[in-house]
Amino acid sequence: MNKDQLKKSTFKDALAQIQDGMVIGIGSGSTIELLIPELATKLQQESIEITGVCTSNKTAFIAKEHGIKIFDVNDVQHIDIAIDGADEIDRELNLIKGGGGALFREKVIDSMAEKFIVLADDSKCVDYLGETFKLPVEVDKFNWLLIAKNIESIKQVKAIRRMVDDVPFITDNGNYILDLEINNHIDAYEMHEYLIHLIGVLETGYFLDVTDQVIIGSTSGVKVINK
Ligand code: 5RP
Repeated sequence: MNKDQLKKSTFKDALAQIQDGMVIGIGSGSTIELLIPELATKLQQESIEITGVCTSNKTAFIAKEHGIKIFDVNDVQHIDIAIDGADEIDRELNLIKGGGGALFREKVIDSMAEKFIVLADDSKCVDYLGETFKLPVEVDKFNWLLIAKNIESIKQVKAIRRMVDDVPFITDNGNYILDLEINNHIDAYEMHEYLIHLIGVLETGYFLDVTDQVIIGSTSGVKVINK
């Protein structure tokens, strides 16, 4: 099975939880982009209606193209289920997210949901956060370099501004992303607390105590892990 097949193997368990009338948080990334057409098919085949709220402009565009009704997050009272991908998942179901740079809106929507479900293949499972993936942090353009220097001198981790094709990556909120090379087992709660209080930091890619369920696709089958 290739990676896309492993991702797709998680969809059945997630889609089975979606019911008529629900407000669904729709995440970002390649896993969710594969899920959206299958969600649209389910809605059509079962004649059910949902309202989607999206964690990125790209997801909203794709979902609308598939005929899914999308609302602004400010126009919904609550979210029943949010479904998203992740870049790393530890044993406590804490995550690193933001590989696609959508971490702020993802955190708003995933935290707001009554149930937050993560879909991933088993390459995302790690012993500690930061083991395989850099920690994305969304920062204001105005003082991004000062923030990066502060992090590097206080925390002794490299903070690299994300670039795409030699130009700085810009988030849907008009900000930059700093990717922090953590590389060793640190206290994620303490690191988040430090980062979030720096002037100019909008949000970090640590998703701590937010996940309710993880559905993992692997060559030996699908595993559903509940918090
Ligand atoms: C985007 C994210 C994604 O959920 C994360 O990067 C996983 O993406 P993929 O499904 O492509 O592996 O956090 O900001």
